[in-house]
Amino acid sequence: MTKVTTSSLGELKRKGERIVALTAYDAPTARLLDEAGVDVALVGDSVANVKLGYANTIPVTVDEMLHHVKAVRRGLERALLVADMPYLSYELDAREALRHAGRLVKEGGAEAVKVEGGLEVAPVVKELLRINVPVMGHLGLTPQAVNKLGGFKVQGRRPQDAEKIVTDARILEGAGVFAIVLECVPEDLAREVTRKLSVPTIGIGAGAGCDGQILVVDDLLGMGQGPTPKFVKRYADLRPQMLDAIKRWSGDVRTAAFPGPEQTYGTKPPAAREPRERRP
Ligand code: KIV
Repeated sequence: MTKVTTSSLGELKRKGERIVALTAYDAPTARLLDEAGVDVALVGDSVANVKLGYANTIPVTVDEMLHHVKAVRRGLERALLVADMPYLSYELDAREALRHAGRLVKEGGAEAVKVEGGLEVAPVVKELLRINVPVMGHLGLTPQAVNKLGGFKVQGRRPQDAEKIVTDARILEGAGVFAIVLECVPEDLAREVTRKLSVPTIGIGAGAGCDGQILVVDDLLGMGQGPTPKFVKRYADLRPQMLDAIKRWSGDVRTAAFPGPEQTYGTKPPAAREPRERRP
């Protein structure tokens, strides 16, 4: 097992090898990511809407993030663990940003943090690096800005918006980020940013020209309810299977078919009662 680091991601870009990133919010999923050889596990603030029932990512707090970062830390060995800094944990004051990032790293075990935005977050990126916290950037559709953006829409279609994304990407690179997530931007723009930067780009809804790809794990596994964005490809359809299992079990409880003898303890210990369960 070779541990993934921020610098090994840069190495992958230089070698032209794609980076595989996925969100994770709990320990069992983190173990699955490691078993599958995923490079980056992101505890995204998408935990807010994917797991915690919020309408979007804005309400999630540092404490809530920390709870999930710790769980992922306990399940993860190989992949790089990146934690999202939630809305208002880094925008107001550099000292607060350092304290919050420090908690995600020191208490949660994150190896890097992710912040949304360009020019406006560059000073925070530099401050975080000063206390040795590596930073991933996030440009394009930045969900923490959903109210300003007027919804979850493709960004950078107008020339002036595309130019701003390219400029912001350069500024973030100059500030020292080790990678940048590009969310919901046209493929040509993502290719241009990818070509112009020496740090890797990781796309979500940004086409095939990025150095890597990331998805929300529940989208990939088909665990969510309702429609998914165009950029999602489902590799499994788990929600109907989960619903079916819960319904069948409920039916068995109601008809007293569950628990059966196999799920029931007798008064004798299993070794005496069920010799086939004895270990050699
Ligand atoms: O919060 C999140 O899950 C993210 C990814 C979608 C990039 O930021």
